[in-house]
Amino acid sequence: MELDNYVRALPKAELHLHIEGTLEPELMFQLAARNGVALPWKSVEETRAAYDFTDLQSFLDLYYAGAAALIHEQDFHELAMAYFARAQADGVVHAELFFDPQTHTARGVAFDTVLTGLERACADALGRYGISSRLILCFLRHLSEEDGFATLQQAMPHLGRIHGVGLDSSEMGHPPSKFARLFARCRELGLHIVAHAGEEGPPAYIVEALDILKVERIDHGVRAAEDRVLMARLAREQVPLTVCPLSNVKLCVFPTLAQHNLKTLLDAGLKVTINSDDPAYFGGYVAKNYLDTAWALDLTRAELKCIARNSLQAAFVDDALRAPWLARLEALPD
Ligand code: ADE
Ligand code: ZN
Repeated sequence: MELDNYVRALPKAELHLHIEGTLEPELMFQLAARNGVALPWKSVEETRAAYDFTDLQSFLDLYYAGAAALIHEQDFHELAMAYFARAQADGVVHAELFFDPQTHTARGVAFDTVLTGLERACADALGRYGISSRLILCFLRHLSEEDGFATLQQAMPHLGRIHGVGLDSSEMGHPPSKFARLFARCRELGLHIVAHAGEEGPPAYIVEALDILKVERIDHGVRAAEDRVLMARLAREQVPLTVCPLSNVKLCVFPTLAQHNLKTLLDAGLKVTINSDDPAYFGGYVAKNYLDTAWALDLTRAELKCIARNSLQAAFVDDALRAPWLARLEALPD
């Protein structure tokens, strides 16, 4: 079997995927025209040409501008269905979708509009593709903890439909400790907890995410490699890292994929997964992340299988749902 077919055949969970980051320019322009929203670009081509990022913030500025095209429940449904179609083609059996309600409520879009559109897509993806999914509400860390509490208040009537909470947006200068009380409240509510840490921020932010927010997974976490004590802890505690290789190169965390530290993390015994983050902006969905990383770092099939296994094990699902995926995975050759 060719390597690309092997990668697609691996049953895998995608655990780090911002649904707003799957908005391809074609759909962005379609929605903007339908909704009478003005975009900062003249064409699809001009939009793609603008995706030349120097750091996280340079990406976030465009990502929030593009999200302005999303207004109605139907828009969120279409957005997520387009993602699920690609996920199915890539061999994704389970997806945990991040969504950023503050990006939408700040523009006057109701929390319920966002959630209902996404939830309907999750139900349709299960019926159409057999892909199960979860929704994880992300708080924007460049905003205040008070703003986060107001968002949690809006989410309260819908908590049965939200599996967990995360923390995203501009990392530097916004450490996890800024949100200690908010995440304590989310834990009391029984929500799963994750946070972006160690993408651009220092290893100390990863330690804060673990000790203060009490996260169950770290999103990115690649800068852990700078701290030997932290590396040993992540290996010992088997904390899953949702690594996004193409994102890291597009946002200049690593100069090239060949210089990415994913194999170093894997060799140190960390529970590494591969994900696409914002695939419409970073040049590839999850299978391309697996494949390009495999070529760049000389990963073996056994290593790719291990990464897919890690993703299934790190998913927020019952073992009854997980077991058949693992059985399918183990039946594949190395
Ligand atoms: N929001 C969307 N993608 C993100 C990323 N890679 N880091 C932080 N916030 C984000
Ligand atoms: Zn992310």
